Amino acid sequence: MTEPEFAPAGTESRPLWLVAQGDDGPLWPPGVDTRFPVAAGFAAKPGQLCLLPGEDGLAGALFGVGRPATPSDRPARERFTLAKAADSLPGGAWRLESLPDGYDATHGALGWLFAQYRFGRYKAAEPPQARLVCPAGVDADAVLAMAAGEYLARDLINTPAADLGPAELEDAARDLAARHGATIDVITGEALAEGFPMIAAVGRAAGPGRAPRLIDLRFPGDGPAITLVGKGVCFDTGGLDIKPAASMLIMKKDMGGAANVLGLAETLARLGRAGGLRVLIPAVENAIAGDSFRPGDVLTSRKGLTVEVNNTDAEGRLVLADALALAAEDAPAVLISMATLTGAARVALGPDLPPFFCDHEGAARALYQAGHDHADPVWRLPFWDPYESMIEPAIADLDNAPGGGFAGAITAALFLRRFAEGVGIYVHFDIYGWQPTAAPGRPKGGIGQGMRALLHALPQMVDEG
Ligand code: BES
Ligand code: MN
Ligand code: ZN
Repeated sequence: MTEPEFAPAGTESRPLWLVAQGDDGPLWPPGVDTRFPVAAGFAAKPGQLCLLPGEDGLAGALFGVGRPATPSDRPARERFTLAKAADSLPGGAWRLESLPDGYDATHGALGWLFAQYRFGRYKAAEPPQARLVCPAGVDADAVLAMAAGEYLARDLINTPAADLGPAELEDAARDLAARHGATIDVITGEALAEGFPMIAAVGRAAGPGRAPRLIDLRFPGDGPAITLVGKGVCFDTGGLDIKPAASMLIMKKDMGGAANVLGLAETLARLGRAGGLRVLIPAVENAIAGDSFRPGDVLTSRKGLTVEVNNTDAEGRLVLADALALAAEDAPAVLISMATLTGAARVALGPDLPPFFCDHEGAARALYQAGHDHADPVWRLPFWDPYESMIEPAIADLDNAPGGGFAGAITAALFLRRFAEGVGIYVHFDIYGWQPTAAPGRPKGGIGQGMRALLHALPQMVDEG
């Protein structure tokens, strides 16, 4: 992984003025010679850049940030606008010379670092040119830790399944554990088949060296008991209920939940906040072979509940259920699952706004607010009890894929909740984990979702639980 970086403190830098848009044109910061930008048509539109000539050639630059935000504003149409400056400015170090009132410099700095992410594993990528001096008042350690978590999540999702199967996902978790002094336990083979029958069943058709496993990371220390569970389906063919080509194309991202919980753990650990944290990842490949699990099979879960497999493509909830059951045995204060679980979530809210499910009002409010405040929006959907009957089939306790085509994200969440009983607060995120078209700071490909909402809401959630 490449490390996110600011320009070293004390580096000689050029000034970058962030300019807001007023009713009658740019709200010029003091000390800016306006003749050149006026002549050049600079209007301080969001993302508009204007280089300023000076005695040595380049005196600095202006960057438009649009109208000042007001507290009643709807969510901005665009996040991380300053990422455009990071992409377009000439090389060297830049400092934010002046900011409009109300501009969130932390959000700006994060956008800059997000823009400098490169996935260079298979082709040389041009390294970032313009470096930002960490703005005054911004907590550099916190921003770098958030960016490092994001970079890790992106790298893991972007790596194709041939190079990131269950074994390599385990390696990534081992690296993280080694970097931060966590302990790691990995359950495979007989012990997996015995203790985690649904993880073993979903993963058993995978090829040599790609066996299913449960990865269990624990961070020593006295912090609150928080457990994160991430869906680690390294590739999802759909199984015998095979996906059509267009749907299978990006299924390397089906370990996006695992990537996000590892990214969040990385951030928490860098900030010294990982004490008491546990991370569980059921890592499998949903492959097709003679020993694939089948439609109609009835699996007996770790918890003892029986599950009728009505669609082998609803594999995520099966592997998560056994991991959640293990997590719940310890009754953590907060239990979180993150998973690229349903197409229905993306149909409901689109690729940019992950739904979360939480029965606790205070925790749900904290998550929504933290997501809003930290440019990581999330939206609550209900664990709708009246739909419980939809996940109850004829010959087993639970149905992994209710027919009817209604409320697919909700019924998946209800299925998971059956295995997460007896914990303080349970929250499930159904993330997309993928940026379908590039946006500022978010290149096409793997993306973190919900990590910053959680990072900032967790302390309050623990208090409320
Ligand atoms: N990994 C998919 C969900 C998914 C698909 C997420 C596309 C993001 C984009 C999951 O394993 C799946 O296939 N879910 C099925 C469940 C259905 C068979 C009940 C789905 O959502 O279609
Ligand atoms: Mn699937
Ligand atoms: Zn899947």
